[in-house]
Amino acid sequence: MDLSHHTVAVTGASRGIGQAVVRALLERGARVVAGARDVSALEALPHPNLTAVSLDVTDPAAARAFGARAAELGASALINNAGVGVFKPTEEITLEDYRRVMDTNVLGTLLVTQALLPHFQARRDASVINVTSDVSDRTFAGGALYTASKFAQRALTRALAYEGQAYGLRVTEIRPGMVDTYFADTQQGEAHKHGWLRAEDIAQAVVYVLSQPPHLRVDELLLHPVQQEVTF
Ligand SMILES: NC(=O)c1ccc[n+]([C@@H]2O[C@H](COP(=O)([O-])OP(=O)(O)OC[C@H]3O[C@@H](n4cnc5c(N)ncnc54)[C@H](OP(=O)(O)O)[C@@H]3O)[C@@H](O)[C@H]2O)c1
Repeated sequence: MDLSHHTVAVTGASRGIGQAVVRALLERGARVVAGARDVSALEALPHPNLTAVSLDVTDPAAARAFGARAAELGASALINNAGVGVFKPTEEITLEDYRRVMDTNVLGTLLVTQALLPHFQARRDASVINVTSDVSDRTFAGGALYTASKFAQRALTRALAYEGQAYGLRVTEIRPGMVDTYFADTQQGEAHKHGWLRAEDIAQAVVYVLSQPPHLRVDELLLHPVQQEVTF
């Protein structure tokens, strides 16, 4: 699938799902504006179509600068992927945990989206893809903080879909189940992750969404490894 007509801004691009998305987009001819705090990981992926930008999504000035750079390069799509997870029983959640998870997953999505919206409103053909989670509408023991952030990200996604319809914005929620990445301070390839989704599977979903013809909007994709228990 040729995506050479796209310039895509990707957050959380230094490893895991974000880095796989960057690679898949570049392979299909897209230009990519990739943001993360660890820019060295992005600079190790030299490519003429890749612009690496230092980005902490929780920092309003950094989010604005990232959006401005992406707009200047003609961004046609934004992938809000940056995210962190902390899993603890409710009584153990600290204020620091709360701020880290909510600021990254919720405030970060809001700030980066806001930074690009004036440009997207002017274009009238842009796409926003938010990588949330299969737990953006259900929870579990130890999941209070993370799922609260993902429920909130889902709400941001859906409100934007309503608002964006007035200016041709296509908004998609991609909801992965278990993916083998570095998420929540783990390593890729740990034995217990055998059979989980690969970061490349989520990158393929992003490519699928961005490859659709102009009349088609993908509202949501829910992706699970076959071995994960069926839950809706
Ligand atoms: N892995 C799973 O099982 C799974 C399942 C469902 C949904 N997800 C979601 O998928 C997304 C990507 O996670 P992943 O699995 O790829 O995890 P990962 O391997 O830990 O990668 C997370 C990425 O987010 C970036 N990031 C974290 N805090 C950031 C900040 N303040 N500003 C900018 N970038 C930041 C990291 O880059 P820097 O540290 O360099 O900034 C990194 O590139 C997250 O939203 C996560 O909630 C993951």
